[in-house]
Amino acid sequence: MSTSQPRVTIRDWPAHAQEHAGRDVCIEGWLYNKRSSGKLHFLEVRDGSGIGQCVVSKGDVSSDLFAAAGHITQETSLRVVGVLQEHAKHKGTFELQVRDLEVIAKPSREYPISPKEHGTDFLMDHRHLWLRSRRQHAILKVRHLIVRAIRDFFDTREFTLIDAPILTPNACEGTSTLFATDYHGDAAYLTQSGQLYVEAAAAAFGKVYCFGPTFRAEKSKTRRHLAEFWMVEPEVAFLDLEGDMHLAEDLVVSIAGRVLDACQEELKICERDTLPLERVKSPFPRITYRDAIDLLAVKGRSDVTFGDDFGGDEETLISQSFDRPVMIHRYPAEMKAFYFARDPHDPLLALNVDMIAPEGYGEIIGGGQREHDLATLEASIEHHKLPRDAFEWYLDVRRYGSFPHAGFGLGLERAVAWICGLPHVRETTAFPRMLSRLSP
Ligand code: 4AD
Ligand code: MG
Repeated sequence: MSTSQPRVTIRDWPAHAQEHAGRDVCIEGWLYNKRSSGKLHFLEVRDGSGIGQCVVSKGDVSSDLFAAAGHITQETSLRVVGVLQEHAKHKGTFELQVRDLEVIAKPSREYPISPKEHGTDFLMDHRHLWLRSRRQHAILKVRHLIVRAIRDFFDTREFTLIDAPILTPNACEGTSTLFATDYHGDAAYLTQSGQLYVEAAAAAFGKVYCFGPTFRAEKSKTRRHLAEFWMVEPEVAFLDLEGDMHLAEDLVVSIAGRVLDACQEELKICERDTLPLERVKSPFPRITYRDAIDLLAVKGRSDVTFGDDFGGDEETLISQSFDRPVMIHRYPAEMKAFYFARDPHDPLLALNVDMIAPEGYGEIIGGGQREHDLATLEASIEHHKLPRDAFEWYLDVRRYGSFPHAGFGLGLERAVAWICGLPHVRETTAFPRMLSRLSP
């Protein structure tokens, strides 16, 4: 088989059909599905960029090749040569009229994921293969676009990317969800958040963000919790809670807009109703924690009282009153992390904010204004029974030119689940780590 034909990607078939009109082109990929009807074999081939139909007509190829095409099995790797043609009935859809075909490797066993329905455990056990499916491919493409949208958002606003370490001596989000490891004889933890580090970096660069994997040894087996998830965490010097909420809102509006612009095809594959995403425009409603408690009472949940945290059920109930993300601010300080500044008008409250996605997808952002008074922060570290030694460096940020500052963390997988309309976060990342899953 000659290899001189230009190689084209399936996603770009419409453009390539013009460029190479009437001439042979080639694709390399894997057989996704196949149908045959007498004198025709329809091979659905995927090449990583998309899935396209290759039509093998009995009259166009040798009888050996026609017979061989009829025996190709799912996930065989292939090289196919042919001419791109617009589909007779579906304008804008292109197919490859096959002239030659080479099998690169036949599967040595029957491919385990057939087009029929499989159970979730089975699919998760075969996650390394499941990624090849149309829907999983679409979800991970959206994830990729969201990552790009996030980076572009901060990069075009003059934020500096400061990567936070993954191994750390500090518990940022409480001691109950730490993965501990041995660090040459000392205890180290997998980071729960890069926040403490970007706070220090904000004093050096003004506006910074980190974006990387974070870890929580949560014992919660819910559709929103992963043991390993990616978080983007901006931190800004001389920003207050109000400004922080604006930044969070702008980021989320920007993400939704970018996905709507670039991922219509993928959202369709996910069967995502895009109307709710089109409503993601500023301003988002802002309510206080006390307002949220009142709202829950109106909705029949008067059992939730001041001091209670909101779980998935409460978040879902609250989100049903709004057509876009809602920001809940000023929670009781006692239930929040040690680093939050207190509301000067009511010191029982933290200057924090959670953003709850609409349609019941839960909290996607947590953040707020940081305590920048040295003595108050020292007292808070003691109150939370955190090891003071490990936080000496963090206290230096208050010792040398302390400054009001604020930031937040957006959980990437939660955002992907919401944008794609997925009931569970397990499909939002290629190889999810959950309470009972470390493999593949
Ligand atoms: O609210 P969290 O715990 O906030 C922080 O970690 C702050 N230190 C961030 C900051 O201010 N720089 O987590 C932030 C977000 C949550 O809103 C949620 O989207 C996501 O991270 N998240 C998780 N996502 C998946 N699985 C988990 N177990 C998650 N825990 C938090
Ligand atoms: Mg939170």
